[in-house]
Amino acid sequence: MKETYILAIESSCDETSIAIIKNGHKEISNIVLSQMDTHSNYGGVVPEIASRMHIENITIVLEQALRDANLTMEDIDAIAVTYGPGLVGSLLIGLQAAKTLAYVYNKPLVPVHHIAGHIYANNLEKSMEFPLIALVISGGHTELVYMKEDYSFEVIGSTLDDAVGEAYDKVARVMNLSYPGGPKVDKLAHEGTDTYDLPLPLDDDSYNFSFSGIKSAVINLRHNEEQRGNELNLPNLATSFQNRVVEILTKKTMKALKEYKVKNLIIAGGVSANKGIRERFSELCLEENINLTIPKLEYCTDNAAMIGAAGYYAYKLGRRADLDLNVKATDKLN
Ligand code: KG4
Ligand code: ZN
Repeated sequence: MKETYILAIESSCDETSIAIIKNGHKEISNIVLSQMDTHSNYGGVVPEIASRMHIENITIVLEQALRDANLTMEDIDAIAVTYGPGLVGSLLIGLQAAKTLAYVYNKPLVPVHHIAGHIYANNLEKSMEFPLIALVISGGHTELVYMKEDYSFEVIGSTLDDAVGEAYDKVARVMNLSYPGGPKVDKLAHEGTDTYDLPLPLDDDSYNFSFSGIKSAVINLRHNEEQRGNELNLPNLATSFQNRVVEILTKKTMKALKEYKVKNLIIAGGVSANKGIRERFSELCLEENINLTIPKLEYCTDNAAMIGAAGYYAYKLGRRADLDLNVKATDKLN
């Protein structure tokens, strides 16, 4: 059988990344240039700086990805690219590069939804088994997705306001921790005790999530303690916050697995790096006999390898875009 090589481009936020993936599984190269250090000076991603840095970096990343793979553009079967959702100015740079390559080398252009990429990060080390439930948790997304088979996405729940990662980063800010605060809160959460009475976010029968309430509760707590002249106990606050988040994520996800009679769970997105979330899901899945997959850490955060893995299936399904493809800041997972 002839091998299929996908060259994939991801630039939806603050990582410029290009990968070459063989047959939807095997990483041949995956270059990720993160702008995190620059943005952390500002306490969050600055869109204008992000798009300017993508322009500066994209050609360097492309050359490196081809060099690492020891391939030329002639060896590539298709160009997969994240067209959305994400920051418009950032997405445009990756899309323009993809269109240029598709035009110059006469290759098919395959549009990939960023969340499909996060899900397919789980296909890079072993094949995903269907049907499955995917919990996608990142700085921009919180979604529960039912997949009956490859590339069929039914979003059964999502966040009504902040994404999980966003809530982590905002709570971290209240705790005077630098951006991105998620990993720092996670680390502190392992050093404290659950002493703060924070609300369980959107504890209802739906599969939707809401994290703005618990975020506001943390902000109010800090103001109240400041007025009383008290110091916050940061490890205890991190533990209390993380416990509530883990509880609601596990509660709704385990319920979805039961209701949809599914035995495979995958967790994807930057927040799946969270130790507390990994530990609790591992325990529950062992108890309930669920086959749990979480990508290795480098595939959890934004990268083009995951776009190449998703892009392979989109390519096989005949999904193509013309050169008039535009970016989308928001778009339904499809
Ligand atoms: O998937 P990702 O790289 O970018 C988006 O597509 O949003 O996710 C980044 C998010 C940030 O909000 C970051 O704070 C969060 O993932 N994150 C974590 C952890 N590691 C990364 N949040 C909680 N615990 C972690 N260990
Ligand atoms: Zn992402």
